[in-house]
Amino acid sequence: MISSVVYSSQTGVHASLAETVEKHCRSEWKQPIREHTRQAFEGFRAVLGDSALNGFILDTGCGTGQSTVQLAKQFPHSLVVGIDQSGERLGRGIVSIAQKNELLKQPVVMGNCVLLRAEVADFWRLLKINKLTPEKIFIFYPNPWPKSAHLLRRWHAHPVFPTLMGFGVPIELRSNWRIYLQEFALAVEIITANQPQLELMKREELAGAFCTPFEKKYYASGHSLWRLQTDKQSLSPRT
Ligand SMILES: C[S@@+](CC[C@H](N)C(=O)[O-])C[C@H]1O[C@@H](n2cnc3c(N)ncnc32)[C@H](O)[C@@H]1O
Repeated sequence: MISSVVYSSQTGVHASLAETVEKHCRSEWKQPIREHTRQAFEGFRAVLGDSALNGFILDTGCGTGQSTVQLAKQFPHSLVVGIDQSGERLGRGIVSIAQKNELLKQPVVMGNCVLLRAEVADFWRLLKINKLTPEKIFIFYPNPWPKSAHLLRRWHAHPVFPTLMGFGVPIELRSNWRIYLQEFALAVEIITANQPQLELMKREELAGAFCTPFEKKYYASGHSLWRLQTDKQSLSPRT
C-alpha cells in the first residue's frame, strides 16, 4: 500500500518549540498516572526482577513489536522491552492468539524480548519515580502530528520530554518527516549539552533490512527516511 508523504503547513521548526520546551523544564507535569499503565509497569518489574540480564532497552511505540524482536537479537545481554498502547497492533504476527489475549492483561516474554501494553509517557514517569534507567531508547516512526496546532503531541514538545531527557541515555529516533527530527534535535540541545546527529538513511542499506512495518511501507512508497541519534546526555546548566 502506497503511503503519502507527511503534509504539514510547517516548513521548518515550529516557532513555539523553544518556548514550549523551556516551559516544560520549569514546571512539573502533574497529570495522574493511569491505572492500566501502573499495572503494566508492575508486570514489567516482575519480569525485570526475574531476569539475569544486564539491564533493559526500550522500544517505544513498538507497534507490532517486530523491531523489538530484532533488537532482542542484536542485544542478547539485555532485556528488550517493546511498549505500545494499541492492543490491536501489539504482537500482531509475532505472538500466538493466546499470547495476544494475554498481552491485554500482562507482558508477554519471549527470551530476552518483552512486549507490554502501556501508555509510554506514564511508563517513562514510572521508571523515573522508581529510579530505573534504561540503557538505550529507540523510538521508531512516532506519530508525527504534523498539524501545527498539535505541536504538544510530538514527543519533544510533550510535557514528558524533560523526564525522557533526564534518563541521560542514548536515543535513536527514526522518521519520514525531517522536521520532526530537526525539532527533536533542537529540543535535546535546549535541555542537554548534547548535539544529536541527524542523517538520511541510505536506501541501499535499508533495502531488505527493514526494522519496522512502517519503515518498510514508507520505503516502498519512496519516502526519504531519517535517523537521529543522541549520545549519553548530561543536563545543561539551564535546566
Ligand atoms: C506510526 S506507528 C509506528 C509503529 C512502529 N514503531 C513501526 O515503525 O512500525 C506509532 C505507534 O506508536 C504508538 N503510540 C503512539 N502514542 C503512544 C503512547 N502515548 N503510548 C504508547 N504507544 C503509543 C501507536 O499505537 C503506534 O503503534
